[in-house]
Amino acid sequence: MTAQGLPNSDGRRRLLVLYGSQTGSAQETAERIAREGKRRHFETRACAMDHYDRSKMAEENLVIFVCSTTGNGEPPDNMRNFWSFLLRKSLPATALEHLLATVFGLGDSSYPAYNVVAKRLDRRLQQLGVKELHPRGEGDDQHPLGLDAMLSPWLEALWVSVLEAFPMPEGASILPPEEALPPRLKIKILEEGSTEVASSQAVPAFEPQAKYATHAAPCKVTVLTTLTMNLTLTLTLTLTLTLALTLTLTLTLTFTLTRIAPCKATVLSNKRLS
Ligand SMILES: Cc1cc2nc3c(=O)[nH]c(=O)nc-3n(C[C@H](O)[C@H](O)[C@H](O)COP(=O)(O)O)c2cc1C
Repeated sequence: MTAQGLPNSDGRRRLLVLYGSQTGSAQETAERIAREGKRRHFETRACAMDHYDRSKMAEENLVIFVCSTTGNGEPPDNMRNFWSFLLRKSLPATALEHLLATVFGLGDSSYPAYNVVAKRLDRRLQQLGVKELHPRGEGDDQHPLGLDAMLSPWLEALWVSVLEAFPMPEGASILPPEEALPPRLKIKILEEGSTEVASSQAVPAFEPQAKYATHAAPCKVTVLTTLTMNLTLTLTLTLTLTLALTLTLTLTLTFTLTRIAPCKATVLSNKRLS
């Protein structure tokens, strides 16, 4: 049985975007894909390959890999461990057969090892049983129109493949670009001594490995502000005291000068006269 068309084991439509990026372009691309996925009502998450908890891979079934090639055909630093893991000989040919995935590579055709990391990754994923969601895409820095020249048409075709495999919920439509996505984090200021943290946190704050940013249920973050408030109060008091002290000193100085200067002038003129 293929993974095509099956939601995750918990019945949710989840999309994982894993990236390897040296200077940020692949990361930006991955985050763009994750945002576009949200507009199609997926719970999406973009994550550097080396920051992803590999033990969770068994729970995934839709993954888009985005990676650049750096050095002289080297993988970016934040995917080296993941890549070494994939290369393990002990991994069976069925290790990733539950995954429906594709790869997009970022490279520069002026280098002899053009986009080799994406090509190798794609080949290795196939050896590990991954089912091809969509043919691999390759962006080239040398294209006169830049990365977007290859990326945008690839993404357009990708979403057709994705929605064929995972149709949108009934009655739902793609959120238009002008409609803002809900914020990823909600910040709530609590009063001192509030017990709400323990009682209301349906989603634990800052649990990067486990949670997806979801359109339906954005992550709740509660910020305890007691410390910040005390610090602000102390700073304000210190500032007020410093200002008061400066004012007093200035007034005293002005007063003293205005008293002394005429006296000196009188003494001088008296000396000259005598
Ligand atoms: C030092 C350096 C080495 C690179 N080596 C390669 C290479 O061997 N092959 C390739 O296709 N692109 C190469 N590139 C181009 C990058 O892959 C390309 O600029 C990519 O968009 C960078 O994505 P990133 O910011 O996510 O790392 C290299 C770029 C730099 C700066």
